[in-house]
Amino acid sequence: MLPKKIEEALNKQIRIEAESSQIYLSMACWAEVQGFEGVAQFMYAHSDEERMHMLKLVKFINERGGHARISDLTAPPTEFGSFKDMFQTLFDHEVMVSQSINDLVHITLEERDYATHNFLQWYVSEQIEEEALARTILDKINLIGDDKGGLYLFDNDVKQLVGKAAEKPQ
Ligand code: FEO
Repeated sequence: MLPKKIEEALNKQIRIEAESSQIYLSMACWAEVQGFEGVAQFMYAHSDEERMHMLKLVKFINERGGHARISDLTAPPTEFGSFKDMFQTLFDHEVMVSQSINDLVHITLEERDYATHNFLQWYVSEQIEEEALARTILDKINLIGDDKGGLYLFDNDVKQLVGKAAEKPQ
């Protein structure tokens, strides 16, 4: 049985993952209307991944006798300034998500809920990868700056990362 405190904390995480999916979907749209196909594809795939992160939590809560609650969401921005700003936002967001997962892991130890603790290890590893990927992209874009030719190559480069994300074991 899932302790109430854990159920509430996991439900908060459902909302964070759902909002992450919406933010990346909005980033995909912003990139797509400007003709940056590679970045758009990357963001669409990332948005799908976040939905998968959310669903994993939903199933886990319900299977353990809790009730996954689907809540309203805060609307994401629709404009992101520049690609550099957008990827900085993505990186900062992932750091926030990692902190939230760490807080969750801490609560499972306090509550001695070792099943949920074990379940959350997947998210701990995933966040290491997500932060590393965001950092790699941010480094690239910092090198390019506002150079148009560089951004064109960057767009192609990011497209290659879509396949890599899809190959990851779930
Ligand atoms: Fe599900 Fe990007 O954290």
